[in-house]
Amino acid sequence: VAYPEPEKCRRIYIIHRKEITMNVLLTGGAGYIGTHTCIELINAGHTVVVADNFSNSSPKAIERVEEITGKKIPLYNIDVCNVEALDKLFAENKIDAVIHFAGLKAVGESCEIPVAYYRNNLDSTLALLEVMKKYSVANFVFSSSATVYGIPKSVPLVETMPTGCTNPYGWTKLMNEQILTDAAKADSNLSVVLLRYFNPIGAHESGRIGENPNGIPNNLMPYITQVAAGRLKRLGVFGNDYPTHDGTGVRDYIHVVDLAKGHVKAIDYAEQHKGTEIFNLGTGTGYSVLDIVKAFSKVNNIEIPYDIKPRRAGDIAECYADPTKAYEILGWKAEKNLEDMCRDSWNWQSHNINGYE
Ligand code: NAD
Ligand code: UD1
Repeated sequence: VAYPEPEKCRRIYIIHRKEITMNVLLTGGAGYIGTHTCIELINAGHTVVVADNFSNSSPKAIERVEEITGKKIPLYNIDVCNVEALDKLFAENKIDAVIHFAGLKAVGESCEIPVAYYRNNLDSTLALLEVMKKYSVANFVFSSSATVYGIPKSVPLVETMPTGCTNPYGWTKLMNEQILTDAAKADSNLSVVLLRYFNPIGAHESGRIGENPNGIPNNLMPYITQVAAGRLKRLGVFGNDYPTHDGTGVRDYIHVVDLAKGHVKAIDYAEQHKGTEIFNLGTGTGYSVLDIVKAFSKVNNIEIPYDIKPRRAGDIAECYADPTKAYEILGWKAEKNLEDMCRDSWNWQSHNINGYE
């Protein structure tokens, strides 16, 4: 993507931007993206409160964030669907903004237990909206996904393109987008920012926090790092007959630290605007599965043995963002490259062979 010259950007927001520090609630803040966002918020001068039920994370991740930042983080071990528990949290802390990461996120599992996915991913948002209204908290940032674009007719993907989903997980994201848009339409105080993430990989440069999937990873980079660590034998490459430069699937991989920084911009934006705004958070560059394997091998000097396997059901050939809107309006763009992503993913995995255990 060719970024516009800065002077041609709609820089109204950036020019008028005030430095505001906020107390931010991160639901699912102990997870992969949440922990990295805690660090970037604290680096930017904000304070954070975390609510997590540890269904897919460990309290140790928050201890490590405290170690990295030198700050104590108030931590609530609660289910975000529980209105009473949320109410207590809001009564005990003056919250200025909420970033709602908490959610179940495995596509395959969502097809097996769709009701649990709808229950968890929708109830949590509804509970938050109710309690936020009671405590007059007006800023809501939501973790959406590029999966809401369904099977794209063309790439790069622009926020205004049609949406549609192929699995229950994706539907929970799209339904949440609708719920939040309706809530902001009805409540002129509410500000909603919907962030559509592309494929986050990498880890904090300290190597102390990173992605820690349960069981055998579904996603490409954790699979590769576990092959590199000897926990898995060989990578299966799902299809080499796609209409892409080498036949393997193309995605927009984004360093999780860049993604985390996008949230700092999003809460600033929410604080100064009302209504709903959608932003893609991606780099604008697509890499194939084999590009990733080669880059990982080169950067870390480790061979990744692989076999070509049939296509995975539900996969698409190509998916990458047009991230121009986030640059023009939030003043955000990804800074890190594929080498950084491969190095930092391995730095985390090699120092934490079994994750946080
Ligand atoms: P993650 O599983 O590491 O983090 C989610 C956290 O939410 C976990 O710590 C989990 O314990 C917690 N959680 C789940 N349900 C909860 C509940 N009811 N109450 C309290 N805590 C609960 O996932 P992540 O990769 O950090 O993703 C964060 C968000 O971003 C998710 O909503 C996910 O769907 C979305 N997203 C992730 C990706 C990705 O590739 N990682 C891509 C697009 C969107
Ligand atoms: C998947 C989800 C998507 C979710 C995203 C982030 C599916 C169908 N889609 O996206 O909804 O938002 O994760 O959590 O699950 N690959 C291999 N071998 C592997 C693993 C992956 O070849 O062992 C390939 C895939 O075919 C794809 C690419 O690597 O071409 C990336 O896969 P993955 O990391 O799972 O992400 P997505 O499929 O883009």
